[in-house]
Amino acid sequence: MTPPGNTLEHFTNITGCDKAQLLALLDTAQRISDQPNLLLDAHKGRLLVSLFYEPSTRTRLSFEIAAKRLGMLVVNVSAAGSSVEKGETLEDTFQTIQAMTPDCVVIRHPEAGTATHMAGIAEPGVHVINAGDGIAAHPTQALIDAMTLRQQFDSLGDVRLVMAGDIRHSRVARSNIQLLTLLGIGEIRLCGPEAFLPSLESLAENTAPVKVFDSLDEAVTGANAIMMLRIQKERISDTPIPDAGHYHQTWGLTSARLELAGPGCRVMHPGPMNLDVEISREVATGPQSLIRRQVRNGVHVRMALLHHLLD
Ligand code: CP
Repeated sequence: MTPPGNTLEHFTNITGCDKAQLLALLDTAQRISDQPNLLLDAHKGRLLVSLFYEPSTRTRLSFEIAAKRLGMLVVNVSAAGSSVEKGETLEDTFQTIQAMTPDCVVIRHPEAGTATHMAGIAEPGVHVINAGDGIAAHPTQALIDAMTLRQQFDSLGDVRLVMAGDIRHSRVARSNIQLLTLLGIGEIRLCGPEAFLPSLESLAENTAPVKVFDSLDEAVTGANAIMMLRIQKERISDTPIPDAGHYHQTWGLTSARLELAGPGCRVMHPGPMNLDVEISREVATGPQSLIRRQVRNGVHVRMALLHHLLD
């Protein structure tokens, strides 16, 4: 199966791709979801190295599973336990990995722009994938979320999505706003405490479908999808972390709040969740939740991406 559209060299940001490439990735991911044996061992013997400077469960695991389903060899490197602890720079670490001729390097790093920088020094044939860089981007998570929404709605133009919580420090929110705007989502309603909302200037390019709310009750009324985001404590230095109980009362997605949206409204969360803080356990595990489906789609999206990069 040859991927349609322009060739992808790296995948570091939604803004680095055109709409046709992104739609082709989503279509391939859906085909893999429909036919689980599609592309099994299609890239046998190719090598993926994952280089994580931050913790991860979903992203690292799903890249590893995706690559192994494609028949690839997988090596995981964590900053802890590597020569990073002896003072080796990121650039030297990347060059060391490159010397061992990988086909793909998946990188997660706390600094914005890291994956783009590594793509700039990558040798021909080495494909760099961004698995999250600081507050800047998490483009594969955005693909997962778009795929999950496309499975639920005939047209993204019909979707009125609430994105609520700590949007300011969320790379998932940023990549999602970029991708969903490009794909023609009907409406994105951003909602959260003032300290957690992005500056309006930073949204300037995306103002068409984006509205800002200061009440979650108002934001969810009439919405047909809600994506909750956790407080990114590890990235917050300029504002106090709210008390968890108080935050849940004011900004948490509870069953009572979900009722304001109605029984057809879908609930999403990219994970990891802080249960009974931004989302109640009842809602997260309830019948309107798509959270497990998002995790499952993670493998399909990452198989599709690796296939498009390698084929
Ligand atoms: N959504 C996400 O990136 O989860 P992990 O941090 O567990 O990879």
